[in-house]
Amino acid sequence: MKIGNVEFTAPFVMLAPLAGYGDIPFRRICREYGASLTVTEMISAKGLCYGNEKTEQMLRLAPNESPSCVQLFGSDPEFFRKALQRGSLDRFDIIDINMGCPVPKVTKCGEGSALLKDPARAAEIVRACVESSRGRPITVKHRIGYEEGKIVAPEFAARMEEAGASAVTVHGRTTAQGYRGSADWNAIARVVRAVRIPVIGNGDIADRAQAEQAIRTYGCAGVAVGRGALGHPDCFAATGEKTPFAMLLRHIEYALEYFPESVAVKTMRKHVGKYLTGVPGTKELRARVYTVEKAAALKEMLCAAANGRSGI
Ligand SMILES: Cc1cc2nc3c(=O)[nH]c(=O)nc-3n(C[C@H](O)[C@H](O)[C@H](O)COP(=O)(O)O)c2cc1C
Repeated sequence: MKIGNVEFTAPFVMLAPLAGYGDIPFRRICREYGASLTVTEMISAKGLCYGNEKTEQMLRLAPNESPSCVQLFGSDPEFFRKALQRGSLDRFDIIDINMGCPVPKVTKCGEGSALLKDPARAAEIVRACVESSRGRPITVKHRIGYEEGKIVAPEFAARMEEAGASAVTVHGRTTAQGYRGSADWNAIARVVRAVRIPVIGNGDIADRAQAEQAIRTYGCAGVAVGRGALGHPDCFAATGEKTPFAMLLRHIEYALEYFPESVAVKTMRKHVGKYLTGVPGTKELRARVYTVEKAAALKEMLCAAANGRSGI
């Protein structure tokens, strides 16, 4: 499996970009369990041009994130061009463009999945990126369509290919659907038939076995796993870790490596909730983690809960 000049071993199962969750410690742990690729949280092309501190922080990479991928969003091709000309993106091997975000705050500015309704502009963005990426592959992540029941992804992906995209990731839902209903993998298969570049299928995949099955059934080059990886970074491994507790402790250590303690603890609260979702008897614990401020207290609380309990 190749995205432009970047080669991957099969099966290609990547972590989908996840704003609010796909931070550096989480990506690092997903790579340890075998994620083929991890992507930064979506970063504003315009914000990059103004070089703010928070944006720069989001560009940090874990030591095992090679090859690396950054996801940009925006609507003005010139901001993408300028963002790519800045040195801060030089460390990335692949540049992905977000054309799938359904959040109104984003789409009302013509960004994210609004670009599905403006393929000419979307193609212009891809061309601007290709021209300024110095040979690095440009990829596009998009949905199957904007409106309910109206699938535009095959033509849209072909247009992105023509503009120079090296791969597309297709989430099998429309913008109107948000995250409701189930992903339409037959629509993803139609995209596979419409283009020659690799198509990465996305939607409702929980683990590596399901990813391999989707690759076989729908002919896509790989799969991106989003929500299935939350609380389950081991979903990328051939055999799972089984205990969320061991993963959680490692995750906390990584969070402390990259963030000040208060930020690390705050970040971990939402991850703890994901790790313990569905683990019987942890409802109270999941609420209690919101009361701790210190990492030591968080670890103690988790160790105490794990002691004498199987399955944590
Ligand atoms: C909390 C959350 C944050 C997301 N952030 C992004 C993002 O920054 N960029 C993007 O392209 N997609 C984003 N997505 C969409 C996912 O990458 C993915 O396409 C979607 O969740 C469907 O895949 P899944 O069924 O495996 O979760 C996000 C989804 C969720 C649930």
